[in-house]
Amino acid sequence: MSRYRTHHCGALRRSAIGQEVVLSGWVHSERDHGNLVFVDLRDREGITQIVFSPEEAPELMDQVHHLRSEDVICVHGRVRERLEGTINPNLATGEVEVIARTLEVLNRAKTTPFPIDDASPSQKAGEELRLRHRYLDLRRPSMARVLRARHEITQVVRAYFHELGFYEVETPILSKSTPEGARDYLVPSRVHPGKFYALPQAPQQYKQLLMVAGIDKYFQMARCFRDEDLRAERQPEFTQIDLEMSFIEEADIMEVIEGMMARLLEQQLGYKMPLPLPRLTYQEAMDRFGSDKPDLRFGMELVNLADLLADTQFKVFRGVLDSGGCVKAINAKGYGAAPLSEFDRLSKLAQEFGAKGLAWIRVRSEEDWASPIVKYFSDSERQAMRERLNIEPGDLILFCADKATVVNEVLGRIRLELADKMQLIDPKSHALLWVVDFPLFERDRETGRLAAMHHPFTSPRLADLELLESDPDRVCARAYDIVMDGVEIGGGSIRIHQPEVQAKMFKALGLEPAEIDEKFGHIIEALSYGAPPHGGLAMGFDRMVMLLTGTDSIRDVIPFPKTQKATCLMTDSPSSVDATQLRDVHIDLTPAARKALAADATKVPNDPQAMVESNE
Ligand code: AMO
Ligand code: AMP
Repeated sequence: MSRYRTHHCGALRRSAIGQEVVLSGWVHSERDHGNLVFVDLRDREGITQIVFSPEEAPELMDQVHHLRSEDVICVHGRVRERLEGTINPNLATGEVEVIARTLEVLNRAKTTPFPIDDASPSQKAGEELRLRHRYLDLRRPSMARVLRARHEITQVVRAYFHELGFYEVETPILSKSTPEGARDYLVPSRVHPGKFYALPQAPQQYKQLLMVAGIDKYFQMARCFRDEDLRAERQPEFTQIDLEMSFIEEADIMEVIEGMMARLLEQQLGYKMPLPLPRLTYQEAMDRFGSDKPDLRFGMELVNLADLLADTQFKVFRGVLDSGGCVKAINAKGYGAAPLSEFDRLSKLAQEFGAKGLAWIRVRSEEDWASPIVKYFSDSERQAMRERLNIEPGDLILFCADKATVVNEVLGRIRLELADKMQLIDPKSHALLWVVDFPLFERDRETGRLAAMHHPFTSPRLADLELLESDPDRVCARAYDIVMDGVEIGGGSIRIHQPEVQAKMFKALGLEPAEIDEKFGHIIEALSYGAPPHGGLAMGFDRMVMLLTGTDSIRDVIPFPKTQKATCLMTDSPSSVDATQLRDVHIDLTPAARKALAADATKVPNDPQAMVESNE
């Protein structure tokens, strides 16, 4: 037994009454009741109330009065029942307290820059401060709970894949560029001047090579690195549950993942996931929800009105339909009584999302539709809309007319905004689904060039193989995403396992033979030594943990996350390095980089970044 403790601070119950115990931890809070002093002592597992009393230990009282929040102490004492009326039902240890006999102050704490407390509103306001002192932030009980859940989820996942016969294999971090649609983080080579490793955006190529090696079933808790513009659900460095299997088809991968998710949802949320999960094609998801990661926890589907309004007199809709666009609407049930300012706000939002306008109808009664555009509709158009959109008094109908892609994007996002505003989502409900039949390619908005929608190792649907050269836009991919509560938590595909097809794919992407050889020669060669049919998927582990713990930011489930600008405020990285280090790896800074560093250095005196300058 440790000299520091017999129990954790979350352990004691009624059954321990009368026992002598030793507890260590941090002073969570202290309440001075004249004579008696109550200290809530906290460690990873919970909080126990310690009582210091002049009757039990008069010699401690002076020291006790000097205790401050976050001091680290060790206490010997006896467990006793709390007096009636002082029981704390919110605390697992709330029926007991420890009456102290000894107190040892193991370390003192300065005043922390923010309270170590979940209730404090400053936790929301000061994320920057929290990140700067992440080690203090992680002391907060809610953060400790998340880290524990993350650990537990990892254990369940490892056990699950082990049971199914997967090998966990580690793949290199210093590797070669493999495209997943983001920029690479590069690591310069000292030994090979001018050459660079790339940090993996995903272990995609290695896991396929493991299939060629006959490993059959692989998984890994894989760190991935992507230099991309950060949004709420993205981090530059994140973790995937990465897997790959041989001699399988789409349905086999889906079954494995459904089994894993069912287990995790049950264990973490007590939620029984109905199996098998529903599947939507990409096209259907876009048409009905305006998103390839639809949130199915509520309705408010996008409804196409193009056929209904074929003869419309409204110039805007007329123009859009004549030029091949579409008109869609959503029905925000019961939201028609919202104030006029709300419609302005929604219109502005729609414009930010790319719309030219957002027309609305407030349905005051069966016949009374208040709207700037209602005058353009004939009685029969109104009747047809009433039926298709299930219009009832009190509803708000919102219209968008434009190219189909714009309409879907705008109404899809307005739909989510309204669900939030109207509180349509029961936080206890969950909706998982597969999105399938993705297009193999997408076109770069500016250059019009083809790019792989998933990645270039994804197999086209066999029936579409011939279209690869003649009509690539119509080729369907053997790719699938898994979506939970409107978040894409995983994606994967059946891979190309024949070298000729892989070469064709690279060609379709506009790569020259020399480039194919230089970048992907190893993979085409490997496929030519008898690669089995194979496929896999990667789950975004951090996003999964976020959903499974009910947190609303990916940063809250990553122990040491980066900011939106990809910096670590605690260690102040990225940081400059001294001139010798740069010389070692054969790197010269551009004048622009030097200037930026110099500007930075004058901002913060004694900043290590100043070193580069002074060393040169
Ligand atoms: P993909 O790029 O779709 O596929 O990534 C798989 C899953 O990883 C998560 N994810 C992220 N999570 C946090 N921050 C990010 N920047 C980030 N980017 C992606 C998402 C996503 O669904 N190699 C393929 C998988 C395969 O084909 O097997 C891949 O990486 O939840
Ligand atoms: P107007 O008659 O041009 O003033 O437009 C009437 C309404 O139609 C306004 O509420 C506009 O916001 C809306 N509107 C304009 N363009 C579009 C569009 N492309 N899609 C949907 N509504 C639009």
